[in-house]
Amino acid sequence: MTKKQNKFYLTTAISYPNGEPHIGHAYEAIITDTVARFNRLIDKDVFFLTGTDEHGIKMLQTAKKQNLEAKDLANKNAPLFIDMLSKINSTHDDFIRTTEDRHRDACIEIWNRMYENGDIYKDKYAGWYSVRDEAYYEEKELTKDDNEFLSPQGTPVTWVEEESYFFRLSNYQEKLLEYYKKHPEFILPATRKNEVTKFVESGLKDLSISRTTFDWGIKVPNDESHVMYVWVDALTNYLTGANFPHPDYTDKWPANFHIIGKDILRFHAVYWPAFLMSANIELPKIVFAHGFLFNKGVKMSKSLGNVVSPTELINKYGRDQIRYFFLREVSLGNDGSYDDDSITRRVNADLANDLGNLIQRSCSMVAKNCNNIIPTPSTNKTRDDILIDTEITNLSYKILDYLEHIEINKILNDIWEQISALNKYFSDQKPWELRKNNTERMNTVLYTTIENIRKIAIMLQPVIPDSSEKILNLLGVDLNKRKFNDINNKDSVIQSNTIGVLSPIFPKIEISDE
Ligand code: MSP
Repeated sequence: MTKKQNKFYLTTAISYPNGEPHIGHAYEAIITDTVARFNRLIDKDVFFLTGTDEHGIKMLQTAKKQNLEAKDLANKNAPLFIDMLSKINSTHDDFIRTTEDRHRDACIEIWNRMYENGDIYKDKYAGWYSVRDEAYYEEKELTKDDNEFLSPQGTPVTWVEEESYFFRLSNYQEKLLEYYKKHPEFILPATRKNEVTKFVESGLKDLSISRTTFDWGIKVPNDESHVMYVWVDALTNYLTGANFPHPDYTDKWPANFHIIGKDILRFHAVYWPAFLMSANIELPKIVFAHGFLFNKGVKMSKSLGNVVSPTELINKYGRDQIRYFFLREVSLGNDGSYDDDSITRRVNADLANDLGNLIQRSCSMVAKNCNNIIPTPSTNKTRDDILIDTEITNLSYKILDYLEHIEINKILNDIWEQISALNKYFSDQKPWELRKNNTERMNTVLYTTIENIRKIAIMLQPVIPDSSEKILNLLGVDLNKRKFNDINNKDSVIQSNTIGVLSPIFPKIEISDE
């Protein structure tokens, strides 16, 4: 495989730092971090970018309300996003802020390329704009509520009239439809693709891509009275992260995955590919839209007072526990809900009971009966031993398939099926009885159980990195033998390893009476 084929560039959306990060931001970072870690585990050359989207009228208006300059608001809040990323244990390689110089250069270059291609012209814009979404909408898309017009996202819109540069989006309708057809996996999950295709088929109007009524943004080349529309600026961050316009940007670009929320799919699957086509730049491979998270099924909002900070949840339950909960509970692509009860149930049932108890029971038997040394199995394996070994080996291959479309909850579902099967194997074989009259068989059962725990812990590293590390340390697994390839590598087995000190890896969450 060439260096270029082995590279894997993935991104989150960049967040507006007009407030503190919330669970939605953390969720997206958790998904993307997990995908990054899985790909490192299979030895891909991963580059994971995230950051903050600091220009635009929304930032400016929020800053004004707080008596701040927009730049100061961004400087105040961007560190909170960096801090949130460290709390969720994110392994991003770069954090971009759109107010950085390197980003201005990339924006000017893409603008110039679109201009030179004849796709930018000056005219007058008159239409509806949602500051909350930083988006233009057509009248036919709006709904009316108490004399106020609302966007399809339910956000208020205002009438805007000003001189503006336009991008000839209408020229790209057919090209985009053709592209979606030729690249059926460009938009995932598949259901979202139909939504985007319908939108494009319904007709694309040219897009206003500059503003004159404020100046918090990147100035349009050769016309300083205009700033670029915040989405031209924001989307270009993905190129800046790859070092565009330096020619070496193609070492990383095109991105393998843009992982974003469903509310901003139109920008990523319609505007962004059109800009790139116009600038003669390769398109990203996959735009993956995840769903929205709700608190007890209700949209999180300051006015409802139900905004829970990711830090609060992590302090309460632990970072692996929260990573696991969101990735397991929410089927990726669909909306999901969280509350204390469902987190407690998941953590206690799956982590503390299914996985934690199995580790505890098997390892304490090794401690008590085998001098703390993982025993050597007999060469006479039974059908049951072979069955569980084979199923867990097969699972590792299946995970690689799921990874192609980042079906993380399927990965976890299947891993937990095998954890249940391993629990059943352990209970059915009753090593505590074998101890009395068949040490050889007891050794084989303990070995088979613990060897399969090793495999599962390797597979779980991207999802619950701290706990997997503890398990692998407990089993004395060499630091250089924790890659995906080591799952089925005969040289990586652990017989004769000494078991470390046993302490509960997944403490049970006590349910309070409140
Ligand atoms: N700045 C734009 C993105 C520009 S990308 C070139 C933006 N920022 S945002 O802060 O509003 O959202 C950042 C990401 O968080 C988006 O992908 C968005 O879909 C996601 N989420 C925001 N709220 C969310 C939930 N409640 N649940 C899940 N994800 C959510 O949009």
